[in-house]
Amino acid sequence: MSTANVSRRDFIKQISTGSAGLLMLEPFLRIRETFTSALAAVPSQPQTAEDFIQLRRYYSLADDVIYFNHGSIGTIPKPVQKAHEQYLRVCESNPWLYMWGGEWEEPREEVRRKAAAVLHCQPDEVAITHNTTEAFNLLAQGLPLGPGDEVLFSSINHPGASICWFHHARKHGYTVRRFDFPMARAAKLTEDELLDLYDRQISSKTRVLVFPYLDNMIGVRHPVHKLAKLAKAKGVRYVAVDGAQAVGMLPVSLKPSAVDVFATSPHKWLQAPKGIGLLFVRKSIQSEIHPMWVTWGQERWKGTARIFEDYGTRNMPELLALGDAIAFNMRIAAEKREARLRHLWQFFRQRVLAHPKLEWRSPQHWPISASLYAVEVKGQKSTDVARLLFEKEGFVMRPFATSELNTLRITPNVFCAEEEMERFFAAIDRYF
Ligand SMILES: Cc1ncc(COP(=O)(O)O)c(C=O)c1O
Repeated sequence: MSTANVSRRDFIKQISTGSAGLLMLEPFLRIRETFTSALAAVPSQPQTAEDFIQLRRYYSLADDVIYFNHGSIGTIPKPVQKAHEQYLRVCESNPWLYMWGGEWEEPREEVRRKAAAVLHCQPDEVAITHNTTEAFNLLAQGLPLGPGDEVLFSSINHPGASICWFHHARKHGYTVRRFDFPMARAAKLTEDELLDLYDRQISSKTRVLVFPYLDNMIGVRHPVHKLAKLAKAKGVRYVAVDGAQAVGMLPVSLKPSAVDVFATSPHKWLQAPKGIGLLFVRKSIQSEIHPMWVTWGQERWKGTARIFEDYGTRNMPELLALGDAIAFNMRIAAEKREARLRHLWQFFRQRVLAHPKLEWRSPQHWPISASLYAVEVKGQKSTDVARLLFEKEGFVMRPFATSELNTLRITPNVFCAEEEMERFFAAIDRYF
């Protein structure tokens, strides 16, 4: 039986509450039943491009929007939105009861099991947080680091996984070294060069290595497991991966890995409600990290990643809906999803390479690229291009304007259409 699809009977069997508890869970179970039938009506395992494109009707995106910005923030599928609204309604019908009733433990644990199934790890290694930034704040203040220890990452690291280290370094006495990622050469990078880049930077002082599975600017997919293994072989104690852009987009497996910590923000590619995060902490290092906030539960949850959670008053409707978002995501096998995204990447990339006014700024090899790519409109300011294409044509894309980048970031999901991409190139021809 899939953990993503526990039947009502199995669920009731799993919970060890009395009849009062069951009564309280009745509304929850009704929502689950409605959701399960709504989910069954959504075509699973799409085969053709048309099958994928048809999935757009299960989202609330406006008709006049071409949404190429799933990397900033995902859009929640309608069945998940409905379940989310219903959880909120039930919780608000008796806020006290539905916030702290012990009966909510099993539904919450069910979400944890689903998250563990997506990450391929043990449920006890998953903490349900608020976002990726929280996870890195936890590490920066809670890892046993001091004078002589170095935290290392590159300039491609997201601020949410970077700034906290500088902030806490002063207090704890460790140092932070941020090296330049060869952004301008990204289109020529190979996996070996990527590994070599980190290999050359890791020193005998490096105690923590942080890198993104997939960065948010140009979409360099890091060879996570090879890099983690390399770091460990060179004496790095903790390998922490920022998986904000990966989970829900690419297959992720933390089982056979030297990765110690992995954080993600399910509001992006898992299309969950905003304000809920996932954090994997390998069992063997859990006791080495000081929790960021402590209240009751530290003893009870000892030996599990739950000690890193805010287990007081929390965003229960969002937490429960995360489980449904995962179930929705799992309707498409991870490999099938990747194949569709790769097809769109290839389609878009070939058109960019053939276009005289456009320049591709992301890796050219799919194994180190992903559904997050950067394109430059030569001679135009990316922020102006993005504004114009949104106002005139409804394109939603994130512009980057830094000392190294003047790009539009394209982050399509599986239901985005080749025809929408064609409209992008037509718009470039029309306006520039
Ligand atoms: C690679 C990466 N890391 C971290 C973050 C921060 O995510 P959050 O704001 O959900 O903590 C983002 C958000 O865009 C991201 O793309």
